[in-house]
Amino acid sequence: MRTPLRTGVLVSGRGSNLQMFIDLAQKGELPIELVAVGSDQAGAQALARARSAGIPVRVFAPADYPSPQAREESLLTWLKERQMELLLLAGYMRILGEGFIQRAGFPILNIHPSLLPAFPGLHAQRQALAYGVKVSGCTVHFVDQGLDSGPIILQETVPVLPEDTEETLSARILTVEHRLYPEAVRLLAAGRLERSGRRVRVAERSR
Ligand code: GAR
Repeated sequence: MRTPLRTGVLVSGRGSNLQMFIDLAQKGELPIELVAVGSDQAGAQALARARSAGIPVRVFAPADYPSPQAREESLLTWLKERQMELLLLAGYMRILGEGFIQRAGFPILNIHPSLLPAFPGLHAQRQALAYGVKVSGCTVHFVDQGLDSGPIILQETVPVLPEDTEETLSARILTVEHRLYPEAVRLLAAGRLERSGRRVRVAERSR
């Protein structure tokens, strides 16, 4: 795979994962070039981070489109115009439609703050606490048309402590997210992710 990969990021909120990608790319520690940041939320803090890093930003607000399909069509056109080679979802709180995924032609990755398939969807950390699990963690996966359901690339656990709140558990998971997500991107860029159905094998480093 030719690197750096032309990479887009979709965001809806705070953007700490986006910031991590910006910092690593700037330091030359990740073989990606950030060329687009898209959001469904005009007020997302993540957009300010992208703008200050000089990355082209575009808002695709649902209210501006007649249908979800029209919105995704516009998003896909923008990404393709920017010659995307990789798309990273980083706190993007919408499901991408089947048409988008089938026609994308570039890999799409997501990070989710639970050990999938446990606790997909919103408030994963709150769900984990309510269930009473003793370990949780995060998952990097390829995106398919389902909700947090695509083939799993990497997972890492964190303990759930008796005194945890949603905030303390989220913070513990987030620290791991910021390490695991770039690791998955490195493996992808190095051509070391081999998919076979739902299973993703990490190939040995070639000598
Ligand atoms: C992260 O914890 C990410 O795993 C989660 O949203 C947060 C975004 O934080 N994503 C999901 O729940 C997706 N289903 P950030 O905006 O600071 O990167």
